[in-house]
Amino acid sequence: MSLNSYVLPDVEVVSTGPEKYRPKYHYTADKDWLSDPNGMVFHNGEFHLCYQHDAYDKVFGAMSWGHAVSKDLLHWQELPKVVEPDEHLGMCFSGCMVVDKQNTSGLGENALVGFYTSELPKQQQSMFYSTDSGRTFQKYAHNPVIRNTEDMSPDFRDPKVMWYEPRSLWVMALAGPERIEFWSSPNLIDWQLESWFGEGMGAHGGEWECPDLRRLPLDGDQNNCAWILIVSVNPGGPNGGCGTQYFIGDFSEVNGKLTFTSEQSQVKWLDWGIDNYAGVGWTNMEESPYGDRLYSIGWMNNWIYAYKTPTSQWRGVMTMIRELKLETIAGETILTCLPASFYSQLLGPELPNMRQVRLNHASRIGTSLSSSRVQISFADIGASDVGIELANDVGEVTRIGYSQANGQFYIDRTKSGNEDFAEGFAGVHTAMANREHQVLKIEVFIDRCSVEVFFNDGEYAMTELIYPDEPLSVIKPYGEAVLSTVNIRKMLPIKRTPINE
Ligand code: FRU
Repeated sequence: MSLNSYVLPDVEVVSTGPEKYRPKYHYTADKDWLSDPNGMVFHNGEFHLCYQHDAYDKVFGAMSWGHAVSKDLLHWQELPKVVEPDEHLGMCFSGCMVVDKQNTSGLGENALVGFYTSELPKQQQSMFYSTDSGRTFQKYAHNPVIRNTEDMSPDFRDPKVMWYEPRSLWVMALAGPERIEFWSSPNLIDWQLESWFGEGMGAHGGEWECPDLRRLPLDGDQNNCAWILIVSVNPGGPNGGCGTQYFIGDFSEVNGKLTFTSEQSQVKWLDWGIDNYAGVGWTNMEESPYGDRLYSIGWMNNWIYAYKTPTSQWRGVMTMIRELKLETIAGETILTCLPASFYSQLLGPELPNMRQVRLNHASRIGTSLSSSRVQISFADIGASDVGIELANDVGEVTRIGYSQANGQFYIDRTKSGNEDFAEGFAGVHTAMANREHQVLKIEVFIDRCSVEVFFNDGEYAMTELIYPDEPLSVIKPYGEAVLSTVNIRKMLPIKRTPINE
């Protein structure tokens, strides 16, 4: 079969209507507004994914928690909402769920216990629980469990709880306006402040939000672990608007208080693209078939234009689920970021005859690339920009590359399609390389309204929304280099079953 006639039957092209930009293999809510991922936990054979949801509108409004479950993190069954606003405590902002295996709370053995920020009369932490595997939830009768007293900041939100084995305690990370607080509790109900972190550390262009505290092995060595603290910041991200940074350090007792410390002098970004925010990880993974890994997911958007993205009926997309690993690369310890390995189950056959793809030559792929994975690698990189253009028949193009001269990786979406719906959307976004690269590996996961780019095996991630008018179908590697390998495969769609189906 020639390359030009190679079309996979499973991927239909929808180029008009409300479903035009509906992703094929990313999580979206059936309708209305979706933002931060919330409450991700593995429990009784299922992965839960909740999210900030306005069930009545396509913009931020009456925030509740939408909910879906999955057995494999690929295919999702939507369930009714977890918590909804009430007159007394108001809306339900971001938070988490944990499994209370030892019934420390007295709410039931293996109860699923959740925490969210209630916002009336000001931000405080409230609790809910389920004793039927997350099919029904009840708000705790004595909410809030952490009050916001007079001396405290009005910004006090996004609880993320973990079990801290060395002291047999629960630890909650909470975002203050520009710091992360750590609270502890023996029973998930009575909490006390331990310490806080953040002054003079990291990026402070805006408010700190959505923390996640984790212990991870360094280079896979379980005997050599470090603690990481993930912190979203809005604004103040690396390319404008919001972004997510992380700190590598230690979490231990200092002067009798559990304290996060870090000697990190530079800001480290989890993702340099402009559209990956509020990401945190699943808990209780050690009981899951995937084992004890840090799988995280983010909201693929930016608060600068989140209300205006050009979809109707539904608005808001999650990123792919990524595995974060603490690895040493060229002498520096970083969190590497790659799509979780289970996505290999969605890979369709390789497109044949990739020899047609040549350097500085535009190849029509003969099939839509709008749900696909492109891997391409270059060697002997010269001074000029090296990368790939992904284009369509109406001349829209997204450029993904590396500039040795500027020491930057980049995504250029200035001509990517529908980009004038909001000021600040069109742009060239960059990631600062910390050294020269002679070899460049680019892995791009393309979906109907996004590109998720992983440079050099996850050393740099960049996630961006794009809204091409027609599906991408042309690929052009460019620059002064040797084109080493090209591999293009379709991504098969995930199944997303709406409520009551
Ligand atoms: C992050 C955030 C959180 C807050 C939620 C409200 O995007 O601002 O801090 O809990 O969104 O939807």
